[in-house]
Amino acid sequence: MTSQAPVAPAPPEVAAQATAFEPVIIGFTCNWCSYRAADLAGTARTKYPPNVRLIRLMCSGRLDPTFVLKAFSDGADAVMVSGCHPGECHYIEQNYKALRRFQLLRRTLESLGIEAQRLQLVWASAAEGVRLAGEITRVTEEVRALGPLNWPTGDMVGIDDLDLDAAWQATGGDAGGPPPAPGGVNPDHAAETAQ
Ligand code: FES
Repeated sequence: MTSQAPVAPAPPEVAAQATAFEPVIIGFTCNWCSYRAADLAGTARTKYPPNVRLIRLMCSGRLDPTFVLKAFSDGADAVMVSGCHPGECHYIEQNYKALRRFQLLRRTLESLGIEAQRLQLVWASAAEGVRLAGEITRVTEEVRALGPLNWPTGDMVGIDDLDLDAAWQATGGDAGGPPPAPGGVNPDHAAETAQ
């Protein structure tokens, strides 16, 4: 009969570090919907974790894939992209472009050994402050369970070797979707967008 060696407990500082992990999440939000939803959540005092740092874009379609990679390279544990619901984009179909970029980026991250859940896409209208707060809470808990990313800070490892343009074309690029309206603005939101 063999006796198993007892497993030594983790040193207290390691255990404390594990419980103290607070993920840093960069949230790219659309000016017309999710940024306003976050504003609404704040006005209504709807609580969500302070782990997310919001960056406002005019539209989720403005999200350049390198923004996401740079966020990870600069120390983010996760990135959340948020925009208007499909069909509700103020610039016609640009959020479909964001969706395709999201799918491409998830594949790219996995090829770099990074869990796909570290990149999240959330649709939220300007009226959905509670929903956005709930999604931020969900994303924070998921990333907390994954643990720190520990990508060498400031070093865009492997990024120079990625051919994002080729990968982007492989996902369909800009093909598909309805033709843009005159001026590139969704007629349902033309007056609002002009403000
Ligand atoms: S996703 Fe909100 S304007 Fe395009």
